[in-house]
Amino acid sequence: MEILRHVVVFVHITGFALLFGGWAVEAFTRRFQINKVMNWGLVIAAVAGLILAAPWGISYELNYVKLGVKLVVLLAIGALMGIGASRARKAGTSVSPGLFWAIGILTLLNAALAVIWR
Ligand code: HEM
Repeated sequence: MEILRHVVVFVHITGFALLFGGWAVEAFTRRFQINKVMNWGLVIAAVAGLILAAPWGISYELNYVKLGVKLVVLLAIGALMGIGASRARKAGTSVSPGLFWAIGILTLLNAALAVIWR
C-alpha cells in the first residue's frame, strides 16, 4: 500500500512537471498559449492529488486545511486556463500576460504549499 502511494505521488509530481514545464516553454518563447501539455499536466496532477487526499497507505494524519487550499488553487488554475484558452481562441491572439503569469505563479504556489507546509 505504501509503495503504491509513493507511485501515485510520483504520478502527481509528473503532472506538476508537465503543467509547469508546458507553461515555462510558453513563457520563455513568449507565445503565451495554453498548450496540450499544460492541460494534460493539470488533469494528471488533479486526479492523482484527489487520490492522495484520501488517507490510505500512511500512518500519519493528512493536513486537510492544506489540501483544501491546494484544491482551491488547482480550481483557480483550471478556471484561468479555460478562460485564457477560450479568449485567445476567439480573438486569435495569445493569452493576456497577467492571466498567463497568474497560471505559472499559482502552479508554483501549489508546489511550494506541498513541500513547505507540513
Ligand atoms: C497544480 C496543482 C498541484 C501541484 C503543482 C501540486 C504539487 C505537489 C508536489 C510537488 C507534491 C510533492 C511534495 C512532497 O512529496 O513533499 C505534492 C504532493 C501531494 N499533493 Fe499536490 N499538487 C497540486 C494539487 C493537489 C491537489 C488538488 C491535491 C488534493 C486535494 C493534492 C494533494 C497532494 C498530496 C496528498 C500530496 C502528498 C504529500 C502530502 O501529503 O503533502 N495536490 N503536490
